[in-house]
Amino acid sequence: MASVTLVGIRKIYLGGGRSRVAVDGIDLAVGDGEFVVLVGPSGCGKSTTLRMVAGLESISAGELRIGERVVNDVPAKDRNVAMVFQNYALYPHMTVFENMAFNLKLRRLAASEIDARVREAAAVLRIEPLLDRRPRQLSGGEQQRVALGRALVRKPAVFLFDEPLSNLDAKLRVQMRREIARLHHQLGATMLYVTHDQAEAMTLGDRIVVMHDGRVQQIDPPLAVYRLPRNTFVAGFIGSPAMNLLEGELVAEESPGFRAKGGAFTVGLPAAWAHGLATRAGRPVILGIRPEHVRPTSSGPGGGGGGGAARLRVDLVEPLGQELLVYASAGGHEITARLAPGTLLAVGQPVEFEFDPEGVHLFDPDTRERLIPSP
Ligand SMILES: Nc1ncnc2c1ncn2[C@@H]1O[C@H](COP(=O)(O)OP(=O)(O)OP(=O)(O)O)[C@@H](O)[C@H]1O
Ligand SMILES: [Mg+2]
Repeated sequence: MASVTLVGIRKIYLGGGRSRVAVDGIDLAVGDGEFVVLVGPSGCGKSTTLRMVAGLESISAGELRIGERVVNDVPAKDRNVAMVFQNYALYPHMTVFENMAFNLKLRRLAASEIDARVREAAAVLRIEPLLDRRPRQLSGGEQQRVALGRALVRKPAVFLFDEPLSNLDAKLRVQMRREIARLHHQLGATMLYVTHDQAEAMTLGDRIVVMHDGRVQQIDPPLAVYRLPRNTFVAGFIGSPAMNLLEGELVAEESPGFRAKGGAFTVGLPAAWAHGLATRAGRPVILGIRPEHVRPTSSGPGGGGGGGAARLRVDLVEPLGQELLVYASAGGHEITARLAPGTLLAVGQPVEFEFDPEGVHLFDPDTRERLIPSP
């Protein structure tokens, strides 16, 4: 096993007389045995980053180390990494055993060693009864496990996964996610995992790396990213439904408040922020609030949460069984609330909502960076 270190890693694709920056200077230190997830929207450079670590793509600038060794110019086969792709192609004419053994045969391992490794991996993945079958005789989830098995038998220093579960249906995905988490726990192996699914990132990663436009936005443990997103991009990307992001300005009367753009509503901010915000009074700001921190004012004694409520029109109600999602709006501002399943709200009705002051975030509209609360 080994650590993986990226220092200022860049990838510039050349072609058609134009250059395109796909990865724009990534610094990341993956610890020995750590599970790190790269997450971000399509085209943000996740696969390119992973392929550079695997040695499948040249590195335009920066330094890549696996363990202590600089591997920028080391061929893929000598990096001691194994990659599992989204479109894992199993050899259709080979059995599961042969598929898993293929790479080891190429490396001319002794037959007894190959047999031992395949059986060990098959036991870990619980596919021993399938070793004699061919891929077309397997379900999608079983095929996926064989693809994992092919990586496992190589006993690499680092596992690289590029959206390995995206071809599976939702239920299988959750099941395989659990398998991978179990594998990581059992093997204690270093894993770098790419996904665009924020829920997958949140549940699998020791730390997650949120990427956007070829750049790292934030690297932190999942809950730290959720609780204190560094900027509006991370705030909007991690969490489902997404954090509400509202444009407006700060008002400072007796206590600090937020007035939504156009004056549709004003809500109170924690009194403790008065000092930190004093110099920004009257300035534009973006308020972030997660759906679970928005609730109808009538729901608690006293209400108001420190002053002011938002009078919103309920546009849509989605009863999801374990919770109720409410989409409401006022003056062009759209707000999602996550409420208890029994809450009675009629579509088209005006309802007063309050924001839990504990859940309010403020961002700078120019830099899009977090202003308060600070980490
Ligand atoms: N071989 C290539 N030549 C030129 N541009 C490329 C090449 N491969 C990728 N790109 C560009 O580099 C950027 C990053 O691509 P990459 O495949 O790393 O994205 P990704 O984050 O993995 O996206 P997805 O979630 O869709 O898989 C994209 O803008 C893409 O168009
Ligand atoms: Mg990709």
